[in-house]
Amino acid sequence: MEPAVSSAGAIERMDPGHAAYLLGGAGDEITLRANQQAWQDLRLWPRTLHSLAGSHARIDLHGRTWPTPLLVAPMAHQMLAHPHGEQGTALAAASQGVGLVLSCQASQPLESVAGAVRADAQRGPLWFQLYLQPRPEDTLTLVRRAEAAGFEALVLTIDAPVQGVRDRELRTGFSLPPHLSAVNLAPPPAEPLDALLARAPTHDDIAWLRRHTRLPLLLKGVLHPADAAAAVALGIDGLIVSNHGGRTLDTTVATAHALPAVVRAVAGAVPVLVDGGIRRGTDVIKALALGASAVLVGRPVLAGLAEDGAMGVARVLRRLRDEFVAAQALCGCRSPAEAAGLDLLRPD
Ligand code: FNR
Repeated sequence: MEPAVSSAGAIERMDPGHAAYLLGGAGDEITLRANQQAWQDLRLWPRTLHSLAGSHARIDLHGRTWPTPLLVAPMAHQMLAHPHGEQGTALAAASQGVGLVLSCQASQPLESVAGAVRADAQRGPLWFQLYLQPRPEDTLTLVRRAEAAGFEALVLTIDAPVQGVRDRELRTGFSLPPHLSAVNLAPPPAEPLDALLARAPTHDDIAWLRRHTRLPLLLKGVLHPADAAAAVALGIDGLIVSNHGGRTLDTTVATAHALPAVVRAVAGAVPVLVDGGIRRGTDVIKALALGASAVLVGRPVLAGLAEDGAMGVARVLRRLRDEFVAAQALCGCRSPAEAAGLDLLRPD
């Protein structure tokens, strides 16, 4: 039987263009596949005879305690998968103690998504993902709206200054249906490529954004350890090791392979999170063993959403959480924070 967390069933039965957008990657999808394969290829060396009394799945991030080390990755246009859209995903994530990173390209107003879950005592972190907007004042408007709506951190995505060349989408001729749009953003101006390139995010932009919000600021899309060290020097509050799920530059290093070098470069200065290809509870414990503080999950959430709206997402996340709790115990590990110190991934 196909595992619930990696089945794409309902999406594969959709309009081929929509399926290509929701599941596809860049180019030959080498990175898309490599992300999953890299986690699978790591071999666990479980520990035994360790007391498991008092085990739990909680983590501490930015001064607060959260129920699980899991967050839903920011993903645009979720009403393409199901009319429940981002609100459905948010409610389902909250019901499982899983965090949510809302994409600035969401198909529903950021205020209504935050409002649906903000007051829930059992939920995970509620973060807002940003792309720098063509006009700085539009970026700041988004920041202020996110702050006012109760988002607890900002995640600036820095690995997509231009869109990746996604062959599957090109082959199917994907375009967003007319009833869907990025409702939180000002309509984008038609920009020539050189204008897009001229405003690709730089260190100055990070320093500028850092000055303009008191929320914790994380950078998403870091792979190179030198970039990680430079980001820490700019005063950011966390890093997400990510290759955008293989949707931007094909043949980039798999995130499981990039994570250890970034963790070494950051040397505990800020939390390091990771996403890309995480499908099983064993993948989660491996990420924690390599030094990640938490993980983000992308496409499996969309698969659940497409299958059965909020209920489908809740089932996917419940399964992943339960698998993680079992894997943690079977590794002889009492908590996510303990995983990095148990030498669970010895070189073969
Ligand atoms: C994404 N991702 C993404 N990332 C981001 O920072 N902002 C965004 O708006 C989007 N949009 C988006 C749409 C879709 C359909 C997908 C599948 C992905 C990337 C996402 O946050 C994450 O990095 C990857 O999806 C993680 O990989 P897996 O778990 O999907 O393999």
